[in-house]
Amino acid sequence: MDEPRSVGWKKTTTIVLIVFCFSLLYSFIRYNLVRNVPLDNLPLFISNKSVALSATILIGLSFLLGPLARFWPKTFSPHLYLRKHLGVIGFAIAALHVVMSLVLLNPAYYSKLYAEGGKLNLNGEASILFGILSFLIFSAISITSLPPIEKHMLPGQWKFVQRIGYLAYLFVLLHVTIMGYQGWFRADSWQYGLASISLISAIFVLFVLIMRFLVIAFSLRK
Ligand code: HEM
Repeated sequence: MDEPRSVGWKKTTTIVLIVFCFSLLYSFIRYNLVRNVPLDNLPLFISNKSVALSATILIGLSFLLGPLARFWPKTFSPHLYLRKHLGVIGFAIAALHVVMSLVLLNPAYYSKLYAEGGKLNLNGEASILFGILSFLIFSAISITSLPPIEKHMLPGQWKFVQRIGYLAYLFVLLHVTIMGYQGWFRADSWQYGLASISLISAIFVLFVLIMRFLVIAFSLRK
């Protein structure tokens, strides 16, 4: 069912607000209240965590709608048109995360990513590399989603660019895993049972990729 564009944007705005408010509240509780990060760092450092989580969830929801509509067509097929809206907004929020991260990227904020002399260490270089690669692919997908560009592409080419979105999402998994895995196993990072944002993001990305894998597996069996 094709919904009018304004309805699509209204629903998208509601979803974006819910995801962003949840992410910001969670980051505030986990980092400012529980881990005593000063409130001075709320505007950029802590907000960047909620921006990164929101981008990951919104891009993931855009990927997830396809598999959900495949398994529960009655419930989710009418909402398939939201894929583009969620993808575009998710990409814009990811771009915000990139800008905020590049402003903050130094040993004073991210000591775990740096070696003693002030250069990035192996985890720092590798995780940032995967962040950049995923961002480049998401940019290509967003550009080819613009109607004037889409019009000049063959359907096969367009589908190929859209499909490599899953590769970009896999790179996001590597980006957050390399950055965060050491903290996932430390007891002190689980105060009040609150998982780190990198772990929440990694589990969400993994869930989306598994759903896609299940769709492929079911199609092959048929
Ligand atoms: C040029 C590209 C990128 C750069 C330079 C970059 C940089 C960073 C940095 C510095 C952090 C650490 C934040 C922190 O711990 O406070 C981070 C974490 C994160 N990034 Fe990126 N990123 C990039 C692309 C992306 C993209 C495209 C996504 C997803 C769509 C993403 C999602 C995340 C997530 C979920 C975290 C975890 C936040 C946390 O652990 O608190 N990043 N990124």
